[in-house]
Amino acid sequence: MKHVLILTASLRPRSNSDRLAAAFAEGAREAGHAVETISLKGKRLAFCTGCLACQKTGRCVIADDARAIAEKVKEADVLVFVSPVYYYSIAGSLKTLFDRLNPLFAGDYRFREVYFLSAAAEDSEEAKEGPKTAVQGWVDCFEEARLAGTVFAGGCDAPGAIEGHPALDKARAIGRAL
Ligand SMILES: Cc1cc2nc3c(=O)[nH]c(=O)nc-3n(C[C@H](O)[C@H](O)[C@H](O)COP(=O)(O)O)c2cc1C
Repeated sequence: MKHVLILTASLRPRSNSDRLAAAFAEGAREAGHAVETISLKGKRLAFCTGCLACQKTGRCVIADDARAIAEKVKEADVLVFVSPVYYYSIAGSLKTLFDRLNPLFAGDYRFREVYFLSAAAEDSEEAKEGPKTAVQGWVDCFEEARLAGTVFAGGCDAPGAIEGHPALDKARAIGRAL
């Protein structure tokens, strides 16, 4: 059994990318894994100030929700980042989280597999690849980990528009195959 931590970045209700996350979680639970989903909705997450104190102490000097999230990220076997596509990249909420996970950079972590799920209005290579590059950049900083898979739901704009999209089955199947 693996501990799967899903982090979802969309802040809007009836989020398309949240539906992808739920499909992945269903598959992983069916396969017997322990799954926790954390949404960034309502979380207090300040920008990283770049002080780098975390590289000595292993902890961020800013006392907000990023501290507890970083502890959970550190203990998970599998990470799943989920984001809407904003300006051909990840949402700012996820980028802020990536920066605030800097305390993990200097120490140990368990995760080896990282997955990335995204939803976008356009069904284009640019909308698919830009955000993936951003996530790949974060993963590359953790030598023991790899970006093991991605799911892209293009052509979804309005909240809930993802219903019936084949990406939901793909996300469920990857979760089931962990
Ligand atoms: C600020 C902003 C920027 C966006 N940029 C893009 C974009 O570059 N390409 C695209 O295809 N869709 C873009 N969209 C549309 C969203 O990716 C789309 O509505 C997606 O389904 C939102 O996912 P969510 O429901 O999980 O929040 C943008 C939406 C917003 C609000």
